[in-house]
Amino acid sequence: MRVPFRFLLLALALCIPLPASAQKSDQVARTPQMGWNSWNTFGCNVDERMIREMADAMVASGMKDAGYEYINIDDCWHGTRDADGNIRPDPKTFPSGMKALADYVHARGLKLGIYSDAGNTTCAGRPGSRGHEYQDALAYARWGIDYVKYDWCDTKDINPASAYATMRDAIARTGRPMLFSICEWGDNKPWEWALDVGHSWRTTGDIYPCWSCEHNHGSWSSLGVLPILDKQAGLRKYAGPGRWNDMDMMEVGNGMTEEEDRAHFSLWAMLASPLIAGNDLRSMSEATRRILTHRGMIAINQDRLGIQAMKWIDEGEVELYLKPLDKGEYALLFLNRGDAAREYTLDWAFHYMKDDISKREIDFGHQRFAWRDVWHGGEGSTAQAFTATLPAHGVVVLRLAPR
Ligand code: GLA
Repeated sequence: MRVPFRFLLLALALCIPLPASAQKSDQVARTPQMGWNSWNTFGCNVDERMIREMADAMVASGMKDAGYEYINIDDCWHGTRDADGNIRPDPKTFPSGMKALADYVHARGLKLGIYSDAGNTTCAGRPGSRGHEYQDALAYARWGIDYVKYDWCDTKDINPASAYATMRDAIARTGRPMLFSICEWGDNKPWEWALDVGHSWRTTGDIYPCWSCEHNHGSWSSLGVLPILDKQAGLRKYAGPGRWNDMDMMEVGNGMTEEEDRAHFSLWAMLASPLIAGNDLRSMSEATRRILTHRGMIAINQDRLGIQAMKWIDEGEVELYLKPLDKGEYALLFLNRGDAAREYTLDWAFHYMKDDISKREIDFGHQRFAWRDVWHGGEGSTAQAFTATLPAHGVVVLRLAPR
């Protein structure tokens, strides 16, 4: 009897167990992750006392109650590897060890994140995880780590999809749910290969606390709010529960004007980006605290559908972003990119919206919504045209509910 070749293949596939790749945790990041990260303010100057103080400040400032959860240590916590290759925290800056720090953070109802790199060294020259992925993931799990940010320095000739999948597998095999945050700057289009690998992926190079600048560091530049926003074009369809386009840690409270900070926070919230504060929580101003803990904006970011806002109307200096929300609601953001305040009128009756992702259509000429101004209060209906003064480098955000 002749056995068809495809049956032979099937038999082979059934008999020979292939090493199944492990799954990323489906218990985390069902909505964009919220937390704090040390890099934007402290760079390499991290130590256990400051991290403990930041956990305390996250609770005392009301950020924890507003939904922030992760305290993330970025680069430079690492000491050397021991003779067996086990990574150890820097004994001078983290003398009590990571387990004690995780216990401290957990006792406050928060979670602890750590940072590593797919190459031999991190961006700041500390030991990377290349060749130590399983060993490092096990160490993190033993310490009680909840979040791994995985960077992309020193990775010449490494394939990004397999390097990140290796760490994903290593984390999964520990059995401890850890959020896996891919930080590869969008260079290799992670949205095309990372949906099952990480819970979020950076879409751009590093952020800089300015509105529209690109800050030149020589061989690379960091980006202000608008350049990062503009690089999100085309990425909306990749976002959803458990897989977010990461617009980088926020710079709220790090030097922009209050209006710019409010716009920055609102845009990150609308585009379903992780909300990771990057300022010093111990000494922030009341204005900064109010922006970071704004319940209305956070509810828009954390909406359970997890649909990223679309750029709905583009009129040059003014852009309108629309985010479908649960229960037929929407968030609508008016962005004024320009240097002068301007009056803007939206006559709903002439507008229509069709969206492939939420599978919704709105004909504002026939469907009525009640709106509420999320930042400033005030209510109205789409039965009348909406007019607002959009501040320079600022936003107005409405929440629309069907009626
Ligand atoms: C890269 C990352 C940053 C930060 C630094 C640390 O630049 O993109 O977010 O983690 O490395 O060295």
